[in-house]
Amino acid sequence: MKSNLSLFTVFGVAITLLVNAASAAELASNPAAAEINKICPISGKPADPNITVVYEGKKYAFSEDACRKKFNEARENSIYHKLGGKAAIDAAVESFYLKVLADDRIKHYFDDISMTKQRRKQKEFLSAALGGPIPWAGKDLRAAHANLPGLNETHFKAVAENLQKTLEELKVKKELIDQVMAIAASTRDEVLNRPKKAK
Ligand code: HEM
Repeated sequence: MKSNLSLFTVFGVAITLLVNAASAAELASNPAAAEINKICPISGKPADPNITVVYEGKKYAFSEDACRKKFNEARENSIYHKLGGKAAIDAAVESFYLKVLADDRIKHYFDDISMTKQRRKQKEFLSAALGGPIPWAGKDLRAAHANLPGLNETHFKAVAENLQKTLEELKVKKELIDQVMAIAASTRDEVLNRPKKAK
């Protein structure tokens, strides 16, 4: 038992070193990724450039070690991470909009929209909504959809169906799909510009 544990420890350290080496190489080849935040994303206090973590090629600094720990836990527990992180969300959004643009119930809404921008925004939005590390900095969903004529429940349902189908095709576990769909459903009132529910 004891020897098994130490074997695990050795493997654990080796894997950590490999991951750190890969992250360092990524940072070296991508100067933008080396830019570091001045404010701790957890505490809102000034970040210490010596307390950092690299996640998906981007370096994050924290005000104290407890914040770094909290950040790492949030990442590991997020739906975003469980889905496979940036690569998985990017692939899902690409496939999702292929379906949306082929869906006669809703495709007309995107006639005059730059789909390059739309795909980028949706990747950013979904990443943030599913617990990714970068907060959503775009429009709130009420404002984003306020000028779409006649937008109603049927359109919302069509979008949700396309999202669900995308995740099923990507063989995402049902439990995770249900979690993603619950988050999508939680945007309904804003997207359809319905009054906010009283708390
Ligand atoms: C789960 C529901 C939905 C989510 C999470 C969602 C998310 C988003 C996001 C993040 C944007 C970009 C906002 C920005 O510009 O900063 C956007 C824009 C847009 N969405 Fe949605 N959306 C949803 C439902 C729908 C539905 C049901 C339709 C119509 C069928 C729709 C059509 C559009 C269009 C046309 C735009 C571009 C608006 C513009 O640039 O003027 N969305 N959506």
